Amino acid sequence: MNYKITGGKILKSDQDRLYIKEETLYVTDGRVYEALPEEKRKESFETVDASDRLIMPGLINLHTHAYMTLMRSYADDVPFDEWLFQRIMPVEDRLPQEAGYWGSMLAAMEMIRTGTTTFMDMHMFRGQSARAAEETGLRAYIGRGLVGEDLYGDGLSRFEDVLKEQEAYESDRVRFVLAPHAIYSASPRLYAQAAEEAEKRGMLKTTHLSESDNEVMNCLKQYGKTPVEVICETGFLDEKTSLAHCVKMRGMDLAILAGAGSSIVTNPASNAKLGNGLAPLKRFTESGVNVCLGTDGTASNNTLNLFREMGLMGLLHKAAEEDPSLAPAEDVVRMVTTGPARALGLENELGVIRDGAMADLVFIDLTEPSLFPGNNIISSLCYCANGAEVCSVMADGKFLYRDHVYTTIDTERVRHEVDRLVKEYL
Ligand code: NI
Repeated sequence: MNYKITGGKILKSDQDRLYIKEETLYVTDGRVYEALPEEKRKESFETVDASDRLIMPGLINLHTHAYMTLMRSYADDVPFDEWLFQRIMPVEDRLPQEAGYWGSMLAAMEMIRTGTTTFMDMHMFRGQSARAAEETGLRAYIGRGLVGEDLYGDGLSRFEDVLKEQEAYESDRVRFVLAPHAIYSASPRLYAQAAEEAEKRGMLKTTHLSESDNEVMNCLKQYGKTPVEVICETGFLDEKTSLAHCVKMRGMDLAILAGAGSSIVTNPASNAKLGNGLAPLKRFTESGVNVCLGTDGTASNNTLNLFREMGLMGLLHKAAEEDPSLAPAEDVVRMVTTGPARALGLENELGVIRDGAMADLVFIDLTEPSLFPGNNIISSLCYCANGAEVCSVMADGKFLYRDHVYTTIDTERVRHEVDRLVKEYL
């Protein structure tokens, strides 16, 4: 289907700034255009009236665990180690494969509803998250959490999972990444092997890094180095790597990450909720590292709503550093658009609205009281929007949600199946 979108305010970006421009957009073959290419001009276009709408690029959530929606608000207000090892992991061990699918479908519902069109997922159920992305129309980067000493020894079955699901599901829209879980669950050797495999296969990489004090202390005890230093020596850090958390940065850690050209995915709600503190944003900015936003899973957030995450990002750092100039709204909006697009190697193609970019678009109702009047719409995206203002969402040129109606998800069925699984396994 081709669309001609008229009357909307468009969120545009260039190197230096974000700005709003009123113009007509054309969507064809999964791409968006301001000026339609000559060869397309004779085709027919359905007109979409976007009066009173802001159209922004689809939001990108660069770190989550989609299946975890099943454990939303299940293990709250407990310390990190107890949360992970005593509450979450035992449930994960008894969940059946289909839980990965239905949990990811519920995650897709929430992401679409709140304007997210791309997510990077670390999962534990082969093919289930990929299937959900494939069916719902979301853009996805999917990695199985790799653990163990040796990728070709005790880590082999999980690595094979990745290759099998890659073979079954990889497309332009659903891609696979290599994702060692963390330095406390995967050895330096496994990180080195994953880096080599990623290079050989042209895959992106991700991992959890320096999330808690315990992680850093145990790593110093075991290796005499910080997690960043250990992982750097394995060759895992380069511009194709995104690193979730990076809350506990010591010594040369940030200089190492910036020097490698890796991207940081900060997760303010999850870090706050698990009592891990607040990432050092001021030092991130000074180091010049690419900063992106993620929600982490719903067992530690407890939502996948990037508007809430942007609000927290904009407020928490100002409070902690007693500096209102930190985390300005425009920078925060970039953390869910142009920043993660760069981390994915899709600068100028994703996270932007310009000729030939991917047609991942979010329509926001500017008449909602939370956004009215529009004195500074970009600022309002960070400080005022709560996600409920999203009225339509398009990914890859197709509506996944149109005028508040899902087009690819049987929401009643998803709720029913999730309810059944929770009753049986939690
Ligand atoms: Ni995580």
